[in-house]
Amino acid sequence: MVSAGTTPPGTSGEKQASRWVQQMFSDIAPKYDLLNHLLSFNIDRSWRKALLKRLRDVLAEPDARILDLCCGTGDVLVDLQRVAKSRVIGADFCHPMLVTAAGKAMARGFRAPLLEGDAMELPLGDDSLDAISVAFGFRNLVNYSGALTEFRRVLKPGGTLAILEFSHPPGALMRSAYGFYSGVILPAVGSLISGSREAYRYLPESVRRFPKAEVLRDMMMSAGFENASFQLLTGGIAALHSGVKKTSSAF
Ligand SMILES: C[S@@+](CC[C@H](N)C(=O)[O-])C[C@H]1O[C@@H](n2cnc3c(N)ncnc32)[C@H](O)[C@@H]1O
Repeated sequence: MVSAGTTPPGTSGEKQASRWVQQMFSDIAPKYDLLNHLLSFNIDRSWRKALLKRLRDVLAEPDARILDLCCGTGDVLVDLQRVAKSRVIGADFCHPMLVTAAGKAMARGFRAPLLEGDAMELPLGDDSLDAISVAFGFRNLVNYSGALTEFRRVLKPGGTLAILEFSHPPGALMRSAYGFYSGVILPAVGSLISGSREAYRYLPESVRRFPKAEVLRDMMMSAGFENASFQLLTGGIAALHSGVKKTSSAF
């Protein structure tokens, strides 16, 4: 079943779902980086590289305003900042994740402007950003269409949205191998190390319920993004989506 937004277990309504997600990420924040790299066998590094490549042009602009949304502990943020000619803002609604992001940026020798806020209601003006990146955060939002509308609001006409997210491998072999890994290995290792069984049950389930890449592409087009497209990564375990805010006034 494809959901309109994430629906964690035992929650009803967007407010409850949002609080659940916020609390869950707060709980796993101390072990997040370790588990992220361990459970992805570091493949996530190559996925982040694909994201950087997609944003290469805007990163080269000295006056660009770029937001790394759902920045978590800041892995994508520091990668973007390393190559960007301008400052990249990080945003997340989970305070412990932002604390780690700030420390990581500092260790790399720069101060990251960080915003603590909800992706569904960004504290930013209309038409104020040149690009938004969202890596593995979009899936956790409570209303996918509403989020795309909000991203469109804050992007300048012609601004780029890039979403890196887990997806659905089209090949049967990869699908069953990944299904076994994410359904059995990931919850077992994740709960053991993080101490949160709930979180590592929710994470694969949220991937299973997430729309297929074609569906997300169509949602982006309906929300007013043109050239919406996607690139499957590692046999479709992840997908890099992108689109550009339409300049027409039809939206
Ligand atoms: C799986 S982590 C990804 C972090 C980072 N982008 C990365 O690639 O490692 C998802 C992040 O999205 C954040 N998040 C989820 N829902 C959010 C929302 N509504 N507003 C802001 N941040 C949100 C969580 O707090 C968490 O830090």
